[in-house]
Amino acid sequence: MKKITAKSIHSQLIIHFAIAILSPAIILSVIGIKFIYNQTIKQAEMKSFSDLNSAAEIYRNRIAQLESITKLTAARGFIISSLIEGKADTLQKELEQTMKSEGLDIFTIVDSKGKVICRTGNKNSKGDFLTSDNFVKKVITEKKAVSGTDIMSREELLKESEELADRVIIPIVPTEKSKPSTESIETNAMVIKSAVPIFNKEKTFVGVLIAGVLLNRNHQLVNKINEIVHEGALYEGQEVGTATIFMKDLRIATNVKNQDGSYAIGTRVSEEVYDNVLVKGERYIGEAFVVNAWFISAYQPIRDYDDNIVGIIYVGLLKKPYNDLLFKTILIFCIVAIIVINFIYIIALFIARKISAPLKQIEEVARKIAEGDYRYEFSIKNAPREVENLASSLNNMAKELEKEQKELEEWATKLEHKVEERTQEIKKIHGQLFRSEKLASLGKLAAGVAHEINNPLTGVLTNASLLLEDFEKDDPKKEDVQVIVNETIRCREIVKRLLDFSRQTKPQKKQTDVNVLIDNIILLVRNQTSFRNIEIEKILDEKLPQIMADPDQIQQVFINLILNAADVMPKGGKLVIETKVNTTKDFIEIKITDTGLGIPEELRTRIFDPFFTTKEHGTGLGLALSYGIVEQHGGTINLESQIGKGTTFIIHLPVISHESE
Ligand SMILES: Nc1ncnc2c1ncn2[C@@H]1O[C@H](COP(=O)(O)OP(=O)(O)OP(=O)(O)O)[C@@H](O)[C@H]1O
Ligand SMILES: [Mg+2]
Repeated sequence: MKKITAKSIHSQLIIHFAIAILSPAIILSVIGIKFIYNQTIKQAEMKSFSDLNSAAEIYRNRIAQLESITKLTAARGFIISSLIEGKADTLQKELEQTMKSEGLDIFTIVDSKGKVICRTGNKNSKGDFLTSDNFVKKVITEKKAVSGTDIMSREELLKESEELADRVIIPIVPTEKSKPSTESIETNAMVIKSAVPIFNKEKTFVGVLIAGVLLNRNHQLVNKINEIVHEGALYEGQEVGTATIFMKDLRIATNVKNQDGSYAIGTRVSEEVYDNVLVKGERYIGEAFVVNAWFISAYQPIRDYDDNIVGIIYVGLLKKPYNDLLFKTILIFCIVAIIVINFIYIIALFIARKISAPLKQIEEVARKIAEGDYRYEFSIKNAPREVENLASSLNNMAKELEKEQKELEEWATKLEHKVEERTQEIKKIHGQLFRSEKLASLGKLAAGVAHEINNPLTGVLTNASLLLEDFEKDDPKKEDVQVIVNETIRCREIVKRLLDFSRQTKPQKKQTDVNVLIDNIILLVRNQTSFRNIEIEKILDEKLPQIMADPDQIQQVFINLILNAADVMPKGGKLVIETKVNTTKDFIEIKITDTGLGIPEELRTRIFDPFFTTKEHGTGLGLALSYGIVEQHGGTINLESQIGKGTTFIIHLPVISHESE
């Protein structure tokens, strides 16, 4: 038999539920986490861009502030008059104060031709022309203020002061991923500059005032950017924001500090940033590992007055707070997801049990039915409709099966009885047949013997009787001859009975009243000595129908049986003769019961054999003869006997005889 290895409904439901829950849960989680990640990163990037805008604005404000200081100074009458009068020392003193208070690195006045009248930072350096300076050139030609970012060479710086020229020097630190460069030192400086025209009272252009702030190593500006943009916020002891100013790709001012506490200048941007910001002039956002932490870095180009890209302004946002936020959000998301999944799983378990429990019950019942136990009725409540229907169908099926099984059992019992009956009948018929054949052959033999013996016997009797008459009264031989006569008579009697038995004469049937026959026999036998101590009881059915039978032969049967009964009750007893008709009125029954010793089991069939007798002077032909007669009438003769209590002979005779008989 093929082994079924199917999983139980319960576990299958759980597996399918789990798949149904987990697949969307995993997809949703992936989408959710990606969404959270994107949102967080986007938020950080947006913040970076807005920080970048703020930084650029602060940068522009610084330039504007420089311009307004320069304008205010250039408009002062004292300055104008000192310029017109060529009082370099006076100018020097006057401008020095402003230069210090406003933190300027360059504060120079030139005349209308561009000749330097006063260099506030270096009073001995004057008389040269600044006509090659773009800013000065523009102011002279356009007569209006020019402000912005500029790059100054070492020569230009040396003119301002040696100290200044040396201060801006930045050793270039070799940087991974940066654009290859052979230079190891930067001597140029990036500067925010404002050049303002000076007019006299008559509005005549008389000179230019130039103010500048160097950006190399200028940490004030970047610190200010950082303070304004990030409000100096700290995260786990670390500054959240960074700001840097690049000259071209070189870090010249930053608030990022090295491990040793010095400012991290001298390194260069990556080639990628270089290409995007310095070459393409675009904004760029990315992630960068700066000194010891990851930053979301935003870069924007710084352009000079002629729109050439001269540097980069950069703001960085510490990534860790965002990473932590991302981690926390994902953690909360996962916890919520797990709780929800578990909750759904518990519901799934509950549903699975609700479906599988009644099915299990049904399975159990079906198994019992298969084993033949149909009486197992059960009810299933609160189960799905189909399961309830299945249960009630099973119940009905079990009932039907039980009914059918009962019918089958009844039918089998009936069949058994029928078979038993038939077997008994066959046995009986077989016995009867056997007996009939035996009787027939014995009858033929007896007839032959009786016929042969009868004539000589008649001769013996006749001669013996004649001889007897010849003897004198007291002749002693007379007695012997008398014995011969008596015994010959007895022999003739036997021969007569043998002839009766063997004759098998066809019964002369006519309407016969069995009750009348019985009455006659009783009248006959009652006064005989053998019946002296026997009580005779008649229970005769008054409605007993007459039957088609030979009255002489039937009477002979009854006499045989009644005489046999008397023989077994020598010391008295009771003889009951009973007649009745069966319900269908086609048979009559005659019962002859004695209170004799009974007939042993093993003799019950033999007593019908011819010549079987237990009596000293019996012929053993009485029952054999009776059997033959009853059989010839289409009837049966049977007996019931109990040892020590008595015997009943039961004769059945048909009411209407059949032609064949
Ligand atoms: N009512 C009875 N109770 C007990 N035994 C009986 C009864 N009727 C018959 N028998 C037995 O059956 C035997 C056979 O009976 P059956 O009438 O054929 O012959 P018999 O009576 O012996 O001889 P006969 O009939 O010639 O006088 C009897 O010898 C007796 O043993
Ligand atoms: Mg007899």
